[in-house]
Amino acid sequence: MTYQTLIVETPSEGVTLIRLNRPEALNALNSQLLDELGQALDAAALDETVRCLVLTGSDRAFAAGADIKEMSDKSYADMMKLDFFTGAARKLEQFRKPVIAAVSGYALGGGCELAMMCDFIIASETAKFGQPEINLGVSPGIGGTQRLTRFVGKAKAMDMILTARMMDAAEAERAGLVSRVVPVDKLLETVLEAAGKIAGHSPLAVMMNKELVEAAYETTLTTGVALERRLFHSLFAFEDQKEGMAAFVEKRKPDFRGR
Ligand code: CAA
Repeated sequence: MTYQTLIVETPSEGVTLIRLNRPEALNALNSQLLDELGQALDAAALDETVRCLVLTGSDRAFAAGADIKEMSDKSYADMMKLDFFTGAARKLEQFRKPVIAAVSGYALGGGCELAMMCDFIIASETAKFGQPEINLGVSPGIGGTQRLTRFVGKAKAMDMILTARMMDAAEAERAGLVSRVVPVDKLLETVLEAAGKIAGHSPLAVMMNKELVEAAYETTLTTGVALERRLFHSLFAFEDQKEGMAAFVEKRKPDFRGR
């Protein structure tokens, strides 16, 4: 499948790299890009050979937000009828395989929200995160007020959302928004190495681990721990558990088949 606003590649077995590609608009998220992202996610969900996704932009911008030029003349009714953002956002939120965001440069507004919808963010030293919608007289619209607050806490979220200040990569790492910060020329290599490791694990165990960490944001501790115990037990129903433990005992590399 070819896209106008995305470049989709398979850099190694099991790994799909989706690169946002609207350089003229710093990868601003317009409806075409969001539609194509939805299509790419659907294709990756159905393809059993895909075990991990990487979402990235350019060195200059992961994405500078929703496309302001496309939105500027829309009415409340237009936005409501179009249900702006909901389709692609829901697909990413409900995507069952892991997705890593590789962020360099600007991740602003919808760009920051898109990165936060991924399972974790690895950033380059040049990354800048922000929710500057207040400058435009609006609010974040793809989960920014909710996810940023959960990830970095109320004080920093309020500061960023109300003043529109950007957070650099070092602060984002200290605040827990990103998992690692690496030099810009090492970003893709680092992220693809992490994605390759994930792709080599049991896809069933990966899916369940992702589901369990996500549950930590949605449930009480007691319910979350009970769910973890139940899913942990259920993993013993799969051949991959037998293979993983046998490989450890036999001092060899496991061959996970997703069964
Ligand atoms: N939408 C549309 N076009 C955008 C854009 C956006 N979000 N961000 C940048 N662009 C365009 C610029 O208009 C410019 O196009 P032209 O060359 O045709 O003028 C091009 O990308 C390059 O941008 P700049 O010349 O502005 O580059 P810069 O280096 O001087 O500044 C920047 C970079 C600080 C990121 C600045 O572009 C900027 O502030 N962008 C807007 C950021 C923003 O407000 N994002 C939130 C959008 S609203 C949103 O996302 C709502 C939501 O939650 C769903």
